[in-house]
Amino acid sequence: MQPLRVCIVSSEVAPLAKTGGLADVSAALAGELHRRGHDVRLVMPLYRRMREAGRPFRDVPGLIDREMSFGPRRGRWSVRATPLPGKDLDVLCVDVPELYDRDGIYTQDDDEHLRFGLLSRVCLALCQESGWAPDILHLNDWHVGPAALYLRLLASWDTLFAKTRSVLTIHNIGYQGVFASDVVHDLGLDDAVHKLHQEDLAAGRVNFLKTGILYADALTTVSRTYAREIQTEEYGMGLDGMLRKRADRLVGIVNGIDDEIWNPSVDPHIARKFSLDTLDDKRFDRAALLSDLGLAPDPKGPVLGIVSRLVAQKGFDLLFDVLPEMLPFHDVRLAVLGSGEPKLEEFFAGLQARFPGKVCFYRGYNDPLSHRIEAGADAFLMPSRYEPCGLNQMYSLAYGTIPVVRNTGGLADTVTLFDRRTGEGTGVVFDHSEPGAMRWALLYLLELWGDRDAWTRMQRNAMAQDWSWRKQTGLYEALYRKLLEMPVASH
Ligand code: ADP
Ligand code: GLC
Repeated sequence: MQPLRVCIVSSEVAPLAKTGGLADVSAALAGELHRRGHDVRLVMPLYRRMREAGRPFRDVPGLIDREMSFGPRRGRWSVRATPLPGKDLDVLCVDVPELYDRDGIYTQDDDEHLRFGLLSRVCLALCQESGWAPDILHLNDWHVGPAALYLRLLASWDTLFAKTRSVLTIHNIGYQGVFASDVVHDLGLDDAVHKLHQEDLAAGRVNFLKTGILYADALTTVSRTYAREIQTEEYGMGLDGMLRKRADRLVGIVNGIDDEIWNPSVDPHIARKFSLDTLDDKRFDRAALLSDLGLAPDPKGPVLGIVSRLVAQKGFDLLFDVLPEMLPFHDVRLAVLGSGEPKLEEFFAGLQARFPGKVCFYRGYNDPLSHRIEAGADAFLMPSRYEPCGLNQMYSLAYGTIPVVRNTGGLADTVTLFDRRTGEGTGVVFDHSEPGAMRWALLYLLELWGDRDAWTRMQRNAMAQDWSWRKQTGLYEALYRKLLEMPVASH
């Protein structure tokens, strides 16, 4: 079959700039599509941290110091390429120092709309300047939602885009990119103002994600369950009505994991590599993790791990009563890596102070430690209130680390409750966002821990799962091809 020309645009690409799963997904999907022979351009901003990390950048001929009008401004942009580690693919980094040469990936600065509005426009400009006609423009999250509209506007006169279809993947509907409506001018959309969401405009707002939802030819989200959930009032964050209207264009495709990076048999960060055949060696990683974190060795109970952004979405408030209640009575350990909302940080810091030797809270971001927790923990906690997909539960499965998850979004699609009667299942799944359900899940986990045969069986079931991108990428390919046969969606 004909290879496709796919332009993927993302605000994060691992390991160059990452705050969460979006970075892992855009890197791995682009890498796998490229490996399959497609002509892939992966576009992101060139953030300060990428220069500071000493990454090599190469000027892309024809894409240096290009002039462009954007709203009331006239400025220059360049594209510099840098290798995507381990992938034999370059990332095209949009270099506009006045917007991206800052400390954060995301900022609270007044021109946040410009930082991502410009990315939405330049991803198309770089196709134009190089005469490269993408079949698919694959946009990710609110940051580049407006690109779906820019594409429509450009395609009305530039035949380069005559066949281009856009896909918008919603990784998290909780973040929509909402700005005051006076940014319309900055975004160069004065003449297209009638194309924006009119009720929002009347209320003085522009919503980047909604703009994408209105104009993308296909909408995807990162699990089948979340695709259903976001069409309900409970999970739709105000967008459920719009999504129901476009339900014929919305599909859920569960993320994959990059098994060159998240694989206990090749992981360079972990103390001892292991696989299904050498599962027993996982105990060395367990001991190393406890020693790294200054926790007491050899607990009789399981080592529990958490690696997460500490935000309300992740449901850690369910642990507020349950953990202090259980910790005095069980010889378990808890290793927490993350940072975020003060209330959650204070909770984990407080646990560490109350239960020294049992609980370690590492506040911050640490990639090698996240691998060591996946490898060394016996179980991994993700009690999310909502979870579009979630990657850590899939990493946990691959490392024989039992996920304890709430039955929502991608967690529901990837983890099944272990049944002691049949010996089937890969983890502990609970239904309700309530402390009682969380308590049940932890008690069931401890019960399974006490039954070594059941535990080993569950670990083996988990490790035998295949959630790799090699499998999941085919679903995107099929969607892209189907889309190319369909007319542009009309509104
Ligand atoms: P989300 O994208 O909502 O944060 P995911 O489970 O999809 O959730 O992805 C989170 C990714 O970010 C995982 O790769 C996880 O290991 C990583 N991560 C989150 N917090 C940290 C941290 N403090 N240090 C290192 N990695 C982290
Ligand atoms: C978002 C979601 C997470 C998902 C990730 C990658 O950040 O919160 O569930 O796995 O995007 O798609």
